[in-house]
Amino acid sequence: MIEFQTLAGQNVLRDAYGFARRQLRRLVETYPDFYPMYTMQGRWKHSGEAWTHWCDGFLPGMLWIVYAREAEAKAPDARWWREQAIRYSKPLEPRKLDRDVHDLGFIFMSPYYRWYRLTNDPTLKAVLMEAGNTLALRFRERGEYLRSFVSEDSLFIDIMMNVGIIYYAALEREDARLMDIANRHSLTSRRVLVRGDGSTAHEGLFDLETGAFLKQTTHQGYRGDSCWSRGLAWALYGFSTCYGYTRDPRFLQTAQACADFYIERTPADGVPPWDYDAPPESRSQVDTSAAAIAAAGLFRLGGLSPDSAKGLLYDNVARHIVASLCRNLAQPDAEWEGILKAGVYHIHKKLGVNESVMWGEYFLMEALDAALGD
Ligand code: GLY
Repeated sequence: MIEFQTLAGQNVLRDAYGFARRQLRRLVETYPDFYPMYTMQGRWKHSGEAWTHWCDGFLPGMLWIVYAREAEAKAPDARWWREQAIRYSKPLEPRKLDRDVHDLGFIFMSPYYRWYRLTNDPTLKAVLMEAGNTLALRFRERGEYLRSFVSEDSLFIDIMMNVGIIYYAALEREDARLMDIANRHSLTSRRVLVRGDGSTAHEGLFDLETGAFLKQTTHQGYRGDSCWSRGLAWALYGFSTCYGYTRDPRFLQTAQACADFYIERTPADGVPPWDYDAPPESRSQVDTSAAAIAAAGLFRLGGLSPDSAKGLLYDNVARHIVASLCRNLAQPDAEWEGILKAGVYHIHKKLGVNESVMWGEYFLMEALDAALGD
């Protein structure tokens, strides 16, 4: 169970943010125009397999976070951060029509939504709405879900992090059809992927003829009936976002169930094993990226919780996790190119195991930004 007495002081948070900003600059200057995914022995550029192309929004998303903070602080290099953020965001635009991935929320909300909020430029909003519309094309009436990238009969918990862009497009366009798709996908995910104890399955499989739900299974977790910690963190954050858009109490209840499972089942420092049900010898491998996502999700859930005591609890746990992650930074290892050590991508394929991973960096930055405040 997480003990949440340890909160990082502002100086620890500021040091961590300063280190993250330096590593980000190093990445941009060392490998210009390269969109990394995971490190190999601490190096971003390598020939390792991608499995699927879902990470390109995270680097520009981080650049926008840094730009916003630096501009607020009237830092002399704020302009440089803005130029880099635009340089890495623009090439993503054609992917608003990408039908090969279920990740258009990751790819567009991380950079374009931040860019739009900073500028109010309607062309950026149009890109977000088009990407939301494209993602909605994955919806299957039989089964009522957005299909994953692997096959027609497959639903991933990760898609709960992406469905937000459909809600966004639905609300901006006042489009009842998109709203209905987003709601039905979220309710199906809640019904078939979130268990009674708040744990989650990675994947659900459906009968293509009848739409009947068949079974829970996994690609990146230990087993179909286990709880892959990153999937749990995606659910915690994703259902919180879903509640933010809809105010449907069913989504709040699900986000809280996932958060409560995370708090009860994660070790005291708030950093989970890669899968809660993996055998003990394998469970010693933590996934700091799951912790970073959970921290960012808990900040979001804390801010949305109608019950102020629960909101405060989630906020405190988020701060405690951020404090722990500040102890996992790569700072003492000058050769390491990432920010946060000990993330995991795909343990069975041996991709990015005990490495820095781009989504871990992004959600750490988002959580640090929330913890630091204005
Ligand atoms: N594809 C999402 C993940 O690896 O968590």
